[in-house]
Amino acid sequence: MCPLQHHVAKLRIFSSLPQFSLTGFCLQRGQLETDLVVWSSIDSQRFQTLMPALIGTDIKHAADILRAGGLVAIPTETVYGLGADATNLESVAKIFAAKQRPEFDPLIVHLANVEKLSEIVEDVPAAAEKLIQAFWPGPLTLLFRKRDVIPDLVTAGLDTVAVRIPAHPLALEILEAADVPVAAPSANKFGSISPTTAQHVADQLGDEVDYILDGGPCTVGLESTIVSCLAERPEILRLGGLSLEQIETVVGSAIVRKASSDPGHQVKESAAQLAPGMLKRHYAPRKPLIVVDSLNEIELQPGDALLLPWKLSNAPENLPSAILSTPKDLTECAARFFSALRTLDSSEAQRIVAIRFPNEGLGRALNDRLERASAR
Ligand code: TXA
Ligand code: MG
Repeated sequence: MCPLQHHVAKLRIFSSLPQFSLTGFCLQRGQLETDLVVWSSIDSQRFQTLMPALIGTDIKHAADILRAGGLVAIPTETVYGLGADATNLESVAKIFAAKQRPEFDPLIVHLANVEKLSEIVEDVPAAAEKLIQAFWPGPLTLLFRKRDVIPDLVTAGLDTVAVRIPAHPLALEILEAADVPVAAPSANKFGSISPTTAQHVADQLGDEVDYILDGGPCTVGLESTIVSCLAERPEILRLGGLSLEQIETVVGSAIVRKASSDPGHQVKESAAQLAPGMLKRHYAPRKPLIVVDSLNEIELQPGDALLLPWKLSNAPENLPSAILSTPKDLTECAARFFSALRTLDSSEAQRIVAIRFPNEGLGRALNDRLERASAR
């Protein structure tokens, strides 16, 4: 088997062996394959030609990998997703393994267009239909009764499936080209900060993912809002990139489900019912994160770094700080939130102090992320 026949997606170097491995899509066999290559058998020029393009914009390559059962990180307007063919059980299992995600946490299935919806769901409730008309493609995920084509692993055994059509042009292109429904959670290790650039994905999942499709920084920056229209009154299971106000303009009033504060629920069998985006601790940095309404509430220390919605007159100049928006713009705050949290988390600071956002529009979802990121 010659590695040059492969469109190389990944190179792995073993520190203990005189070998490296190449994983790529074999054009002849039409599948992903891994070759072991002995260092001494290649010269440096050949090595250059084999260097993997882990990050790129090759839609066809990405689609080939998805159809062959591999994992592709896809850009969306909300956050980057770790995608696999939702109808392929083995591929879906790879998502859980790569993310170290518990199997009680169901995945969102992404489609290229609304015509494909009836292939994977039983029916579309009237309120969901209105939301689809208003907000798809976009940062809205809806729950439906699932058809058998979606494996139970995707839905954590629930008879409902969460579906969304993303608004990112490259996401739509890859979904169209792959022509399969794509299960994709956010492309980060379970519980940690969501990725809003291709490099964020490479930093956390570079070893696990076969290819990262680079669509630039995410413009919304917060995960989709998840709505269930399966009961009488629409219920928001997770606040996100589409605000409560926007949803209510279409469906009248909606219920917002509160996060479970029962720490034991994470291991209960019924946990999937609680939508793990609702887990008390999630989106978390490694450093301690303290959330306050005002800087007057806290005694700041020399090792602190500040996460501020916008410039505050009482913020000390000598502490490192991330200011999310120069005008008071919650949309801009959302777009920059996870990236700023990540930067502060990898800085020298010992503690991150964040100021709550106004509790309106995207501020609600931002505050939700702050609460979960700071929970211990
Ligand atoms: O914006 C987004 O939604 C991103 C991009 C990639 O599309 N995806 C994302 O996926 O945030 P993830 O896995 O990080 O969060 C999906 C959430 C989970 O918390 C899960 O509980 C909920 O969706 N979910 C999925 N299927 C569900 C179902 N059948 N019932 C209730 N909640 C469900
Ligand atoms: Mg996530």
